Amino acid sequence: MKNNRRDFIKYTGIAATALVGAALPGLAVGGDTSNKPFNTIKGSQRFNMCGYAAPKIDKVRIGYIGLGSRGSEAVPRILNIEGVEVRALCDIKPKQVELAKETLKGTPNNPALYSGNDTEWKKLCERSDIDLVYICTPWNSHTQMAVYAMEHGKHVAVEVPAAQTIEECWQLVETSEKTRLHCVMLENECYDFFELLTLNMARQGFFGEIIHGEGAYIHSIGRSLFDPVQRPGLWRLDENAHRNGNLYPTHGLGPICQIMNINCGDKMDSLTSVSSNDFTLHDIAVELAAKDTMYSKYVDKHFRGNMNTSIMRTTKGRTIMLQHDTSSPRPKSSRFLISGTKATIQCDAGPARISTSHEGWVSPEVFAEIEAKYTLPFVSKVGELAKKVGGHGGMDFLTDWRLIDCLRNGLPVDHAVYDAALWSSIAPLSEWSVANGSKPIEVPDFTRGAWQSNKPFNIS
Ligand SMILES: NC(=O)c1ccc[n+]([C@@H]2O[C@H](COP(=O)([O-])OP(=O)(O)OC[C@H]3O[C@@H](n4cnc5c(N)ncnc54)[C@H](O)[C@@H]3O)[C@@H](O)[C@H]2O)c1
Repeated sequence: MKNNRRDFIKYTGIAATALVGAALPGLAVGGDTSNKPFNTIKGSQRFNMCGYAAPKIDKVRIGYIGLGSRGSEAVPRILNIEGVEVRALCDIKPKQVELAKETLKGTPNNPALYSGNDTEWKKLCERSDIDLVYICTPWNSHTQMAVYAMEHGKHVAVEVPAAQTIEECWQLVETSEKTRLHCVMLENECYDFFELLTLNMARQGFFGEIIHGEGAYIHSIGRSLFDPVQRPGLWRLDENAHRNGNLYPTHGLGPICQIMNINCGDKMDSLTSVSSNDFTLHDIAVELAAKDTMYSKYVDKHFRGNMNTSIMRTTKGRTIMLQHDTSSPRPKSSRFLISGTKATIQCDAGPARISTSHEGWVSPEVFAEIEAKYTLPFVSKVGELAKKVGGHGGMDFLTDWRLIDCLRNGLPVDHAVYDAALWSSIAPLSEWSVANGSKPIEVPDFTRGAWQSNKPFNIS
């Protein structure tokens, strides 16, 4: 099976606010990595969003915020799905809004346009004719926008990571529970073909007990972080220039968590994280600053270490290893490995592989048989269309398709707000551990105990 996501480079890039109630008092976040003690979670769940089916929406009316590299692809992609309407488009930059509108030419969509300043997005959220707000802005605005949208009665689809601090993670959870509106993080790796295949294999017992998972985001995009054309605003460079840890954990983690039933049968307990020094980014900053004063402000920065390795342990005794390196000149790796008592799968730079013994990987013929047996019905239904439409080889389309499917049919979404919060929390937790000599840190239970009775989402 060809795993097309590995043919693509992903761009990424921050935020913070205080939260009430159930936050971990004293746990530092998103840059604040002081060695404070932290307490276990207090408070109880208001309402369980895991398994919650919101009322069905016949036609899903969408408002997009952030029409840069990612958002501009998302708008035309959605036109391939039935039962949606693009109602509003928003970006600070008028040009981005116009370009996105162009992609709707010849379709019945006639969206309202918002641009010109950094608060126009609020007007979009306040409209009464939108069901879903789709957020593709820089990291530091995600939670604020998602919370505001939910408070104004909208479901939310938000790009990765959904939050940057533990406080923000709790804000998302509290708001989704309070409003009973979905907050889905667009973790497209969960919808890559091999990841979906292996999810079904895991559900059918192919792996026996799952023991261990590994994920990585290793893409050499270091120099491009300094390129204002490729990365307008250099917001992602700013992230890398003052934080140190795994800043982009969700792509590697999401598929592992859905296979391990984290938040619905198992729970992540603790995390420890270690970072190398930075051996490249500061040098680039010095080199560029010698030619262009625009880069002078980066010369005194303490850049993120090139390689971060974080290790987690779950309540049921499973382990997860995650790596992050976007600034070393090495081949791309979106490593995905699952090992169980009966089988192992691995997908990295090369083709996906399956093994059922220590003798090696199964032959292509056996692989094809397994693939035919375990391909999910919904992938059989829309997989070919997904490949045609594209977006990281089709997984972006599948991510959208499944979200719209759930909203239109009144089904629980695959990944609830607890997953968005947990997967995003790994960044600030890793920053804390790195800053504190790789000490282990307790991972918050955003489900506040409900993980014990929550059921894994329905993949049939
Ligand atoms: N899932 C994936 O595979 C994937 C791939 C790439 C990027 N991403 C994520 O998508 C998000 C966006 O990344 P990108 O590469 O498109 O960034 P980008 O910088 O290209 O685009 C961001 C856009 O948001 C706009 N914006 C910023 N603040 C705004 C505000 N207050 N109101 C309205 N618009 C505002 C900017 O003008 C810009 O056009 C990030 O979270 C990134 O991590 C995900």
